[in-house]
Amino acid sequence: MSYYEKHVFFCTNQRDGGKACCGDRGSSAMRDYAKARTKALGIAGAGRVRVNNAGCMGRCEEGPVLVVYPEGTWYTYEDRDDIDEIIEEHLLNGRVVEALKI
Ligand code: FES
Repeated sequence: MSYYEKHVFFCTNQRDGGKACCGDRGSSAMRDYAKARTKALGIAGAGRVRVNNAGCMGRCEEGPVLVVYPEGTWYTYEDRDDIDEIIEEHLLNGRVVEALKI
């Protein structure tokens, strides 16, 4: 059994030179928000949900991106509403958010 039921990785990579990167699209703030929300909902921790930073995951043009394991489901997002939907639907109810999936 996995140590975490769901492990969420937010790319927070910052690039120089004007290349597309998640760090320029608010990823750190959304990562912080997701961490705070999972804690507030009581689903953060061993056996439940973990939210982590990641470096570049190679899908920069589609970003900002996050990926949820163990499913390996990739999402993009724009704002807190999108993060709330991923938490509510995917992390709490196990349903993929097709509208945000990449
Ligand atoms: S900078 Fe986020 S996937 Fe490359």
